[in-house]
Amino acid sequence: MEDHVKSLLDALPLPGDDARTVAATVKEVEFEDGELTVVLNLTGVDRATRHQIEDAAVKALSGQNGVDEVYVEVEVDDLPQYETRQEPGLSVHGGAAAPTPPKKALSDVKHLIAVASGKGGVGKSTVAVNLALSLKARGARVGIVDLDIYGPSVPIQLGVASAKPGVSDDQKRFVPVEAYGLKVMSIGFLVEDDTPVIWRGPIVASVVKQFLDDVEWGALDYLVIDMPPGTGDAQLTLTQSAPITGAVIVTTPSELALVDAIKGLQMFRKVDTPVIGLVENMSHYECPECGHTSNPFNSGGTQRITEQFGVGLIASIPIDTEIQRGGDNGKPVSAVRPDSPQAAAFLSLADAVIEKVPFAETPKAEKKGFLAGLFKK
Ligand SMILES: Nc1ncnc2c1ncn2[C@@H]1O[C@H](COP(=O)(O)OP(=O)(O)O)[C@@H](O)[C@H]1O
Ligand SMILES: [Mg+2]
Repeated sequence: MEDHVKSLLDALPLPGDDARTVAATVKEVEFEDGELTVVLNLTGVDRATRHQIEDAAVKALSGQNGVDEVYVEVEVDDLPQYETRQEPGLSVHGGAAAPTPPKKALSDVKHLIAVASGKGGVGKSTVAVNLALSLKARGARVGIVDLDIYGPSVPIQLGVASAKPGVSDDQKRFVPVEAYGLKVMSIGFLVEDDTPVIWRGPIVASVVKQFLDDVEWGALDYLVIDMPPGTGDAQLTLTQSAPITGAVIVTTPSELALVDAIKGLQMFRKVDTPVIGLVENMSHYECPECGHTSNPFNSGGTQRITEQFGVGLIASIPIDTEIQRGGDNGKPVSAVRPDSPQAAAFLSLADAVIEKVPFAETPKAEKKGFLAGLFKK
């Protein structure tokens, strides 16, 4: 079988290497019960190209007699640690299978979803909280981690502002707080309200790793991250140090927010993190009396970004007093009024996220298709 696989892959050129073909990168071939698994070592090949090769190899190897399913796994020797994990989904997304994945708290977390914004006050935390609750409503196991050093509002929004995380029996890990069925960790549990902002930067740098690695998250389908707003060094470092599956960028229709949203998009591009889509918050107003919808701020800018950058607008959330009050009173609309139209807006956001980053077991080839799709720029 191995020779046959190699002969098929010999037809695929290896970009940037005239002397060899993809056949030369074959590391392992396994064939059992109609399942063909081929491991390629693509060290030195950039991520986008790795995905192209992976897709091409699946195509080249499919459709042979007796082969029902084709799995192509890509391995790389020189990736930073966050890419060399072996969880389902991430190994597909990162394109890398590690020889010995480190066993950490996060290793039972299938997907990290970053909720980011170019600037503060656009409703990032509101979206993160209601997205997390909606993912849960769809049957996923969900946690939320609030890394917004400037305004850690997740505990307030979830009504657990005075809670403190527990500590595991061996004193080595935090035990997250629980709220509305979500596991919650927040930088707000650890810093006092009056901690000066200039101290928060160093605090966040040192706790980020702990929040991700030293918390008993248990088995989760999604860990939603409320990112610090902005696109500076802190955000960049965070984006690089966490194994993020995809990012959701929150913006509002105002021109200024859009300029910042573009910076956010560019930041994720720079570090090769797929952007799942844009969420336009406070996008329109629906009159509770007559149902009339108006777009007082809409300049068409979000539409322009989606065209220019090829990212989808995956949800439009109305400006709404129930959404605002729910957050400010620790009773988020998605938890306390799950049948409301407001909650429906967040559910459709959750559905868009699930479609791009599924949590239920789907056939590997199909899942790969979805995730590979995130990379098409
Ligand atoms: N769709 C919305 N409708 C009404 N108010 C909203 C909406 N989204 C957010 N808000 C309110 O705007 C303020 C800022 O939201 P927040 O989620 O804290 O923003 P960020 O995390 O981006 O700083 C909060 O008072 C929140 O309740
Ligand atoms: Mg916030």
